[in-house]
Amino acid sequence: MTEMATLILDGKRYELPLFTGTEGERAIDITNLRDQTGCVAYDPSYSNVGSCRSAITFIDGEHGVLRFRGIPIEQFERETPNFVEVAYLIIFGRLPTPAELQDFSRRMTEYAHIHEAMKYHFEAFPITAPPMAILSAMINSLSCFYPELFQLEDKEQFESAAARLLSKVRTIAAYAYRSSLGLPFIASHSNLRYCANFLHMMFSMPYELYRADPVIEDALNLVLLLHADHGQNCSTATVRLVGSSRANLFASCAAGVCALWGPLHGGANKAVIEMLQKIHDKEHSADEVLGMAKDRDTTFRLPGFGHRVYKHYDPRAAILKRACDRLLDKLGRQDPLLQIAQELEGKALNDPFFVDRGLYPNVDFYSGIILRAIGIPLNMFTVMFALGRLPGWIAQWRELHDDPSSTICRPRQIYVGQSRRDYLPLEERIDPSPDDGPDSSPQLSGIKRSE
Ligand code: SDX
Repeated sequence: MTEMATLILDGKRYELPLFTGTEGERAIDITNLRDQTGCVAYDPSYSNVGSCRSAITFIDGEHGVLRFRGIPIEQFERETPNFVEVAYLIIFGRLPTPAELQDFSRRMTEYAHIHEAMKYHFEAFPITAPPMAILSAMINSLSCFYPELFQLEDKEQFESAAARLLSKVRTIAAYAYRSSLGLPFIASHSNLRYCANFLHMMFSMPYELYRADPVIEDALNLVLLLHADHGQNCSTATVRLVGSSRANLFASCAAGVCALWGPLHGGANKAVIEMLQKIHDKEHSADEVLGMAKDRDTTFRLPGFGHRVYKHYDPRAAILKRACDRLLDKLGRQDPLLQIAQELEGKALNDPFFVDRGLYPNVDFYSGIILRAIGIPLNMFTVMFALGRLPGWIAQWRELHDDPSSTICRPRQIYVGQSRRDYLPLEERIDPSPDDGPDSSPQLSGIKRSE
């Protein structure tokens, strides 16, 4: 018997079906709300709207829980799998057998090169080009060179496309860095695992191979796998929205890169380090930064703090904070920015402004400290987030395509512009009065909510 929610509108009762997810999350199914009531639901940032049923990642924001295909992420800190293994889990729904992992890794190695003609694109970008712009452009250009990957109906084709995308995006990221420094491209090495190969392609020189310290390689594996998926975040929702028109996987992931770029989303890991550096350089004190974040008259928000879903400590931030200490200790290094970050966190978590609003460190607050210790340049930080998130985008795109009920996403709106008016011939138009503004329709903020 389906449980129902009752909506009373204009004295009429409407019954809306309820359904419950694996972990007890309840949803009111409003699929037929407009047909039944003539009304649409309104939630411009979708924070109260479930856009899909997904079996990939479970997040409990109130209790700081995150599981990939049911496995709590804390177990990945303890078991230290490599990123490719977690990518397989996220994409195919279960941990790979040794033979499957070996085959998937082999495909990564096989597909690591990019079409020779693609390399000329890098020469056309200005040396100051933002790596996220290059990443999005080059992922899209994969569509030009590998059209055979548009047809992903069968499992074998999809598995090949997933491995190809994961491997080639790693190469594109490394080449974006190399081209920004005018350095020669370094081909992947068949004997290196995913992260060691990336660092090799980033930092090796023609005369000297870069050999990643296993401590560094493990740290990069952990950073990437912790980013592997996170439900319907802004960039993943973008990948699904683009994929819902049946756009190909490359176009959908290229769009995801663009959404991730914003400082409210994946761009925050770079903003955190820039903020910590300013405190270190005495441009601002920690107290002044917290004061600016609390000032409602500014748009400044404390980077790396707060979250749409977590109203408690982001479990990834807790793991990354521990990993910072472990990595720097093993490398025998100090990073003054880590001390500043820990001081800032301590102050914020003793400040009612942050605690009362449920503002805690998120995944971006400590990830940059690790990327710095690895030697990743600041302008590549969000690219690293994208590399980590790629398995999630691929899995979510596939889940959308495998859902027989999925159709093109097309939200509605509430129109608040001009009511009907006629075209005015040019000669009859007069200068608008000062309070007319460019378009004298009622402003969104002035929208009158019906009583
Ligand atoms: C990621 O969605 C995901 O899953 C994303 C992600 C993923 O893995 O894909 O987890 C990755 O994007 C993490 C977030 C990275 N962004 C940042 O660190 C940027 C700084 N954070 C904020 O901009 C903000 O917290 C957001 C954008 C992340 C969330 O914004 P919301 O939904 O508006 O936050 P909220 O509703 O919890 O805010 C409640 C109050 C508001 O103030 P009041 O109206 O109550 O006065 O807290 C304020 C907000 O203005 N607030 C902050 C703040 N975050 C929220 N004030 C100061 N500093 C902040 N960081």
